[in-house]
Amino acid sequence: MTVNILVQSSYILAAVLFILAIKWMNAPTSARRGVLAGELGMLLAVVGTLIRHEVVDYQWIFIAFFLGSAIGVPLAYLMPMTAVPQRTALSHAFGALAAALIGTAEYYQHTPHGFTMVALVIEVLLGFLTFTGSLMAFGKLQEILPQRPIVYRGQHVVNLSLLGLAVLIGLYLILHPEQTWLFPVFSGLALLFGVLLIIPIGGADMPTVIALLNSYAGLAASFMGFALDNYLLVIAGALDGSSGLILSIVMCKAMNRSFTNVLFGAFGQLQVKAGAAAERTYRSASPEEAASILDAARSVVIVPGYGMAVAQAQHKIRELYEMLTRRGVDVKFAIHPVAGRMPGHMNVLLAEADIPYDRLVEMDDINSEFAQTDVALIVGANDVTNPAARTDKTSPIYGMPILDVDRARTVMVIKRSMSPGFAGIDNPLYYMDKTLMLFGDAKVFVSAMVKEVQALAA
Ligand code: TAP
Repeated sequence: MTVNILVQSSYILAAVLFILAIKWMNAPTSARRGVLAGELGMLLAVVGTLIRHEVVDYQWIFIAFFLGSAIGVPLAYLMPMTAVPQRTALSHAFGALAAALIGTAEYYQHTPHGFTMVALVIEVLLGFLTFTGSLMAFGKLQEILPQRPIVYRGQHVVNLSLLGLAVLIGLYLILHPEQTWLFPVFSGLALLFGVLLIIPIGGADMPTVIALLNSYAGLAASFMGFALDNYLLVIAGALDGSSGLILSIVMCKAMNRSFTNVLFGAFGQLQVKAGAAAERTYRSASPEEAASILDAARSVVIVPGYGMAVAQAQHKIRELYEMLTRRGVDVKFAIHPVAGRMPGHMNVLLAEADIPYDRLVEMDDINSEFAQTDVALIVGANDVTNPAARTDKTSPIYGMPILDVDRARTVMVIKRSMSPGFAGIDNPLYYMDKTLMLFGDAKVFVSAMVKEVQALAA
């Protein structure tokens, strides 16, 4: 009885902590607290589960605990921030595999019937397809597999038929759970479907797909909760499932894409407008010239993007921010929801460099300010500043909400060359009269600017 109360209390507390964790992770100021709450919740969940069941032997539990930590801790520390999407894909792959394997073990041990079997079939289907799907997503993002969409005629029919067959076998298994020979066929179809689902999607859409796979892994865990009669798993899985879904919707919106377009659109066949870059002229400037323009400005909006993450320029940017602020310049940071390669990418990097949170302004709030801004300083961002998204109906990114940097009085762009960004398209911003290209690695260029501003101050 007391054990039961202990287990139930730890589960309730864990569920509350998971919900608070998601809420707190919503804002940079409370994000650390959110991570801690999530960790504590997970600890309570594991401890509650261990005391709920009579554990005959702790040996395997400890082996799994140390093995998991030995892989997870270095992975978290060693994986660069720019590789977080593929790391997340790996986590989903293993989480989903765990759900599918537990479902498989449960099936062979207890051969459940009725509702439990329904939950188990859904758990295994989602678990296995998310496992192979996430591995494919990892391979594409890590460039182990070709990034381009692999498409062939009749692909959707093949995929839907395969899924349909898996669902039919699943239904048959629900009605006749004792037909054990069908279970491996069912699992095999789910594994194959995961691969086929992802191959037609281009590398460009992988981060969105990963958020969706996250949602599937959560749903698999939730159904596992029903199959195992564990309410905490139901709650945690549902939280994961719904937040993954909401995240993928937010990402689709920020890129002006629809779900069906991401899943069936074969975007990511990168297209560069031929000849456009070669014919047009642009102006470039040195760190010295750029520094004197910044020094003369009253308001500067810094727009960070993927290039800042690659160059790890955020610390140098903080130095520039401090120096300009000390000289009376109003400096803000404009955050586009899909700048970089994962949600919140820029917020995390700028927070890591101790840039005050209240200086970070979201796209919808900063856009009306660009017209009164002296300098928009773009650091390794490209697509999220491309005015073609507003003006060129033929552009693949037409309709995507962008940061209206072209409305600032002067635009300065730090990047290494005239190469396109993620979407593979030219950026008309670079050819405007008010734009100065600052060629170089973001960290190197910003360091040079910092020195020049320092010299001006001396
Ligand atoms: P991008 O459009 O990818 O542009 C980044 C730019 O950074 C490139 O043009 C590159 O130009 C420059 N760069 C690369 N390394 C650099 C370095 N070391 N120093 C200086 N510059 C460097 O980035 P963005 O504007 O942040 O846009 C993000 C893109 O990713 C969008 O298309 C978005 O839809 C997509 N996406 C984002 C997400 C999330 S959730 N964030 C998810 C899926 C897709 P050079 O090569 O000339 O240097």
